[in-house]
Amino acid sequence: MGTDARACIMVIFGGTGDLTYRKLLPALYNLQAKNAMPDNFAVVAVGRRDIQADAYMDAAYKALQQFSRTEVDPKIWAQLCERLYYQKANFNDDGGYYDLKLFLSELDEKHGTGGNRVYYLAVAPEYFPVIVEKLYQNSMVKNRTTSQKVVIEKPFGRDLSSARALNQRITEVFSEENTYRIDHYLGKEMIQNIMVLRFANVVFESVWNSQFIDNIQISSSEIVGVENRGEYFEQSGALRDMVQNHMLQLLTLIAMEPPANLSTESIRDEKVKVLKALEHFTPQTAQEFIVRGQYGAGKIDGKKVRAYRAEEKVSLISNVETFVALKVNVANFRWAGVPFYIRTGKRMQNKGTEIIVQFKRLPQILYFKDYGTLHPNILSIKIQPTEGIYFQFNVKEPGIQNKIVPVNMDFCQNCLAEDNSPEAYEKLLLDVTQGDSTLFTRWDEVENAWKFVESIANAWQTQPTALPTYAAGTWGPLAAEQLLVKDQRQWWQV
Ligand code: BG6
Repeated sequence: MGTDARACIMVIFGGTGDLTYRKLLPALYNLQAKNAMPDNFAVVAVGRRDIQADAYMDAAYKALQQFSRTEVDPKIWAQLCERLYYQKANFNDDGGYYDLKLFLSELDEKHGTGGNRVYYLAVAPEYFPVIVEKLYQNSMVKNRTTSQKVVIEKPFGRDLSSARALNQRITEVFSEENTYRIDHYLGKEMIQNIMVLRFANVVFESVWNSQFIDNIQISSSEIVGVENRGEYFEQSGALRDMVQNHMLQLLTLIAMEPPANLSTESIRDEKVKVLKALEHFTPQTAQEFIVRGQYGAGKIDGKKVRAYRAEEKVSLISNVETFVALKVNVANFRWAGVPFYIRTGKRMQNKGTEIIVQFKRLPQILYFKDYGTLHPNILSIKIQPTEGIYFQFNVKEPGIQNKIVPVNMDFCQNCLAEDNSPEAYEKLLLDVTQGDSTLFTRWDEVENAWKFVESIANAWQTQPTALPTYAAGTWGPLAAEQLLVKDQRQWWQV
C-alpha cells in the first residue's frame, strides 16, 4: 500500500452517541461504498460504554440499516469492518488515553496511517475542552502539526465569552488551520451551489443588490419537536440552536461579495465581512423586529403531539423559544435597505429549508396599470428536502382575453442526480481527511455570529416577555406573519 497524504486514523469521541450512529457511521459507510476513502485509513470509535468489539459492530450495523441513505451491502460493510474499531475510555481519565494512544500506534503499523489523526469530538460540549486538554497532556497531539486535526461539533460556546474561552483552549493545542468547526448545513449540496449560482451566472449576479432585490427570506422549518434533547434545548432555544450557526451561514453565502479567488481563506474573509455588517439589535429594535414563539400541543399528520413544556427534561414554565423570526439589516453598500427575513422553528407544518429572493416590482405603468396586479419575480433556492432552483416570472396567458399570469422555470437537482445527493456529513468527513476547511467555520465567523446573536439575547434579557405559543403543525405565531405584513410583504410559503 502506498501512503496517501490523506492517510489517517479518525478517532471519534462519542462513538456510541446519537450523532455517530445516525450520521457519522452512515457517512463513513457511504464513502466506503464509493471507494472515496484513502487506503490508509481507520476509524476508532471511543465510548464510555464497556462493550466488546463484536457488540459494537452489531450496534453499528443496526444503525446503518436504520440510517444509511443507501441499502447496506454486506460486502461493503465487511470492508468497513476491516478498518473500524471500538475502544472504551472515560473522557476525563488519563488511563483511557494511555491505552488509546498505544492502540492507535498499533493501528498505525497495521494500516500505514503514519501517526496522522483526526480527532472528532462528537460529545456533549462540556467535554470539548476536557478531551483537547487530555490529548495534549498525553502527548497525542504533536503540538500543532498538520498531521493532527480536531473536528468540533456544535454548539461552539453558549455565548461570546464561553465561545472565546473554548476557542482559546482549543487553539492552544491545535492551530486554527487544524481546527474544523462543523456546521453541517455547509455540507448540504444546494448550499454549496449558492456561490456557483451567483458567481457563475451573469443574469443573477448583475441584479444581486439593493437596486433590484426587494427582500430576501431564509426559512428553515422542522416537523419534529425537541425529541430527546430537552435538556440541551432549554439552554439553547432556537436562537442559539439554529440562528447563530446555520441561518447566519446561509445569510453570509447569499450576501457576500465575490471572493478574490476560490481559496478557503478568501471565501471566509468575505463571509466575515457580512457578519460584521449585520446591524445589532437594541431592546427596542428587538421588540419591533423579532418574533419568538413556543410550540403548544397540536396535530402532526393527524396525530396528537404534546406541547414543548410537556417534553422530557423541559421546565413546565419554560420560556425558551422553539420558533424565531427576525428582520435583519445588512448595513453595507450592496444591501442597504434590503431586509433579510429569517425564520426557523420546530413542530411546524413542513420540513423544509429554502431561500427566497424577491425582486423589486417594475414601475406601475403599462401592464400593472392595465391589469391591477403583477406578481414579483421570485428566485427560490430549495435546499431540502427538495433540492433545486425555481424562478417565477410573468407571461401572457394564451387565449383571447389579455391576462398576465406568473409561471415558473424549475430545476430539480435531486431529480437529476443518478444517486441521491450525498449527505452533508459525507462531504464534510471527506474534506477533513483532505485538509480542506472551506466548508467549516473560521473562528472570526463564529465570533462575529455570536456578537450579533448576543445583541438579541441581551435584548431579551432586559425585556423578558411571555412567549406566544403556536399550535404544533402550523407556521408559528401570527406575529411572524405580521412582521412582514407591516412592511407590505408576505412570507412565500416553503
Ligand atoms: C441541528 C440542530 O444543528 O440542526 C437541531 O441542533 C436541528 O435542533 C438540526 O433539528 C436540523 O438539521 P437538518 O439538517 O435536519 O435541517
